[in-house]
Amino acid sequence: MNWLVTGGCGFIGTALIRSLREEGGHAVRVVDNLSVGTREDLAAAGDFVEVSSGELGPMVSGEHLELVAGDITDDDLALRAARGADIIVHFAANTGVMPSVEDPRGDCMSNVVGTLNYLEAARHAGIRRFIFASSGGTIIGEAEPPIHEEMPPHPVAPYGASKLAGEGYCSAYFRTFGVESVALRFGNVYGPLSGHKNSVVARFIKRAVEGEVLEIYGDGTQTRDFIYVDDLIRAVRLSATVDGVGGEVFQIATSAETTVQELTDRLLPALTAAGIDGIEVRKTAARRGEVRRNYADTSKAQRMLGWRAEVGLDEGLRRTVDWFVRG
Ligand SMILES: NC(=O)c1ccc[n+]([C@@H]2O[C@H](COP(=O)([O-])OP(=O)(O)OC[C@H]3O[C@@H](n4cnc5c(N)ncnc54)[C@H](O)[C@@H]3O)[C@@H](O)[C@H]2O)c1
Repeated sequence: MNWLVTGGCGFIGTALIRSLREEGGHAVRVVDNLSVGTREDLAAAGDFVEVSSGELGPMVSGEHLELVAGDITDDDLALRAARGADIIVHFAANTGVMPSVEDPRGDCMSNVVGTLNYLEAARHAGIRRFIFASSGGTIIGEAEPPIHEEMPPHPVAPYGASKLAGEGYCSAYFRTFGVESVALRFGNVYGPLSGHKNSVVARFIKRAVEGEVLEIYGDGTQTRDFIYVDDLIRAVRLSATVDGVGGEVFQIATSAETTVQELTDRLLPALTAAGIDGIEVRKTAARRGEVRRNYADTSKAQRMLGWRAEVGLDEGLRRTVDWFVRG
C-alpha cells in the first residue's frame, strides 16, 4: 500500500514506518516540518529520499521511503502530497497539553486546520482511509473512568479541544464525503524511539540516566493508561485494513489504571536491572490543564478491530529502559 504519514519523523510515526519496513512492500511518504522529529530520527527507521515540495509528484507503488519537509498548515502541499496515496495516517500535531496552554492559537492551527487540510487532501485524492491520532483523556476531561467512546466530551486543555475538533471533522468527512476516517484515542504511549518526548516514562528514564531527580507533579495519585508503542502500531495498522470502521472512534489503551506513583515504583526495578541505581524521587507542584484520573474501556476496539493490548507494563518498561540505555 501507499502510505502518507504526517509527523512521520516523530515517536509514533517512526515506529509505524519501522513496522511497515519490516513487513516490506510498502511505499511511505512522510510530511513533517522537523520541529520535533529529525532527519536522523527518520533515517533510524529506514533509508529515505528527501523530495522538495516543489518537485513532488504522485506517490508510486513499490518499497521506498520519502521525506517532504513541510508544514501541515500548508493546504497546497497537503493536496499535492496525497496524490497516489491509498491511506493517510495523520500524526503531525502539537502533541502536548502545556504548549497548548501557552499557545492555544498555535495549537488550533496545527491540530484543527492541519487536520482539515489532510481530510481535504483525502477527499480530493479519493483516499479511502484516513487515520487520525486522537487522545482519550484530554478530550473527555474530568469524568469517572473508565472512559469510553460514548461519554460526553468536556476537554480541560486547549489540546483536548483541538483533538475533539479534529474528531468532529473526521466524522463530517465520512458522513458528507465518504472519507473513511478512523479516530484512535491513544492512551499514554511509551516505548523505544521516544528519546525526545517529555511524557512521564521518557522523562523519568532520561533523568535517571543523567543522575537527575525524578519529579512527580502533584501527589502521585493521578492515574493514566500506559500503552506500549508496539501494541499501538498494531491498532493503527488494523484500522487501515479492517472493513466497516469508517467514521468510528476507538479508545486505544490497555484498560489498566496506574497511578504515577505506581508507575515510578515499577520503573525503578527496570532501571536498577539496567545498572542505574541511587535514583531520587521528589514530589513537586501539580500542573494546570491535566486530568486527575484516566484509563479507558477498550472493548469497542476489541469487538470491531479485533485488537487488544498485549504487552504488560513491566515488560514494556523493561524494553523501553533497555532501548534508552543500550540503543
Ligand atoms: N505519544 C502519546 O502518548 C500520544 C497520546 C495521545 C495522542 N498522541 C498523538 O499521536 C500523534 C503522534 O505523537 P508522537 O508522540 O509521535 O509525537 P512527536 O512529537 O514525537 O511526533 C510528531 C511529529 O509531527 C511533527 N510536526 C509537529 N507539528 C507539525 C506541523 N505543524 N507540520 C508538520 N509536522 C509537524 C513533528 O516534527 C514530529 O516529528 C500526535 O498527533 C499526538 O497528539 C500521542
